[in-house]
Amino acid sequence: MEVVILADAKEIGGVAADAIGALLTRKPAAVLGLATGSSPLAIYDELAARCDAGLISFRQARGFTLDEYVGLTADHPQRYRTVIDEVFVSRVDFVPGAVEGPDGLASDIPAACAAYENAIRASGGVDLQILGIGTDGHIAFNEPGSSLASRTRIKTLTRQTRMDNARFFGGEVESVPTHCLTQGLGTIMEARHVILVATGRNKAEAAHQLLEGAVSALWPATILQHHPHATVLLDDAAARRLQLVDYYRETYRAKPEWQGI
Ligand code: F6R
Repeated sequence: MEVVILADAKEIGGVAADAIGALLTRKPAAVLGLATGSSPLAIYDELAARCDAGLISFRQARGFTLDEYVGLTADHPQRYRTVIDEVFVSRVDFVPGAVEGPDGLASDIPAACAAYENAIRASGGVDLQILGIGTDGHIAFNEPGSSLASRTRIKTLTRQTRMDNARFFGGEVESVPTHCLTQGLGTIMEARHVILVATGRNKAEAAHQLLEGAVSALWPATILQHHPHATVLLDDAAARRLQLVDYYRETYRAKPEWQGI
């Protein structure tokens, strides 16, 4: 995995947007994997600014979100489908219907999950997947104990994740849904390039485990150690527990700028 340690979320947003811009230049009909939550917000801000400035276009691109809460109605402000529209999709020039997400209101959940897997496959697969990481090491909502080969399915959220996300639900942990539909670790591993973002002190242990721990279902993100093209973008606070921090910094400093991530 490539590890890039930057000063703050804004710099991270710039580096990730450069990679997405290069992809769209090379392949205008690229398929993007989109995460919700706080971590990718600076990336979406930067992409929206570049789209406004005419530097980048999503007109031919498609997108798939990672996950969705089960049972949040269409008008709920924290439904991930609504959130991603607000923070990203509506701010750039995707054509209507170009971004899909798992259906958290489906009456037949296994069928909805299978349909989502089929839709991703039929699109040709995800070219670039944006990821955050939970403090418990989840990616998408693959909580500790998830099968490392899992596909899109229903999962129970951990108490820790519900506490972490209570900030989006007026601080009320009991208002955070207990279940979600999530792409599996096996699904995510098929993306051609994965960019994971972690910022802040509360992500330092998860970042350390992700990069330097043993591959284990206890820290589901560690499966990315097996990914052939995974890039981890951290700020200084999230990098503070890394054993090889000097090596990562030196390696990135020595990299020619034209190479990108
Ligand atoms: C969201 C998602 C989650 C978040 C993770 C970190 O679609 O898949 O894995 O990326 O919970 O959330 P933030 O970025 O809010 O700290």
